[in-house]
Amino acid sequence: MTHLTGLIGYPVSHSLSPRIHAYWSAQHKLDADYKLFTTAPARLRQTMLHMRKKNVAGVNITVPHKQTVIEYLDNVDDTATRIGAVNTVINQNGTLIGSNTDAYGFITNLRDGLGDLTAYLKNIVILGAGGATRAAIVALKDAGAGHITLTNRSPEKAQNLADAFQVECLPWSVRNNLLAKATLIINTTSLGMEGQPELSIDVSLLPATAAVHDIVYAPLETELLKNASARGLKTVDGLGMLLYQAQKAFELWHGILPAITPELRAHVMESAV
Ligand code: ATR
Repeated sequence: MTHLTGLIGYPVSHSLSPRIHAYWSAQHKLDADYKLFTTAPARLRQTMLHMRKKNVAGVNITVPHKQTVIEYLDNVDDTATRIGAVNTVINQNGTLIGSNTDAYGFITNLRDGLGDLTAYLKNIVILGAGGATRAAIVALKDAGAGHITLTNRSPEKAQNLADAFQVECLPWSVRNNLLAKATLIINTTSLGMEGQPELSIDVSLLPATAAVHDIVYAPLETELLKNASARGLKTVDGLGMLLYQAQKAFELWHGILPAITPELRAHVMESAV
């Protein structure tokens, strides 16, 4: 019996996840499939009913369903509850469990790029207040983050997150003033993505020991990372977050922790550009 998995979202057609999961399934000779389920909000309930079938191992959930899917699940684990969003559902004999592998993906990618995080976690500046930001904050707190400052174009979204997670929140207009003491800055906005405006941040204001992380992965090297590298700062791109959140989901569904290798990165980026 084929173990069915996939991605529920709206839209999902540009997702790189099928390519990642197919690569691992072939590597481990699993009879598994990863399908794209384009699901408009009004059809989410019905789609989730189908996910209780025997041959479904589980699904990933993406925009705009990460929060609304919760009402169609039987249980939500601790991490997903704290983040307030589900990106992975596991079907345990007809019982649907909600989890969130984005926090794992985020922090594992950061460790991969920077090694021991202790020094970098002291004074973190996060740009943005979207869905990915929530997972990043939970992961950073679990990793022992010191001070976290959040800044976002829409102040009310930043304030909501700041209240929910007990972090500091400052206006978007003063973002450059936050850099002088930062040990790590993280772009969680969509700025710098292909087709989007650049993020305007003056990396020359950062200390020489600071690191810069961009969760954007298309392009792999954003202007932000390019400027930071040119200054000699350590940088981490966003592809690893995508790969590691997929790695954890694959393990939850199939009981195998697949490897993330340079070959896999190249295979995934082939279709991203
Ligand atoms: P997701 O939930 O997938 O992370 P999102 O909620 O749309 O996506 O978040 C996108 C982030 O990029 C938000 O922080 C958004 O800022 P707003 O909350 O003000 O919308 C940020 N963003 C997008 N375009 C931006 C722009 N032109 N300038 C500044 N921030 C921008």
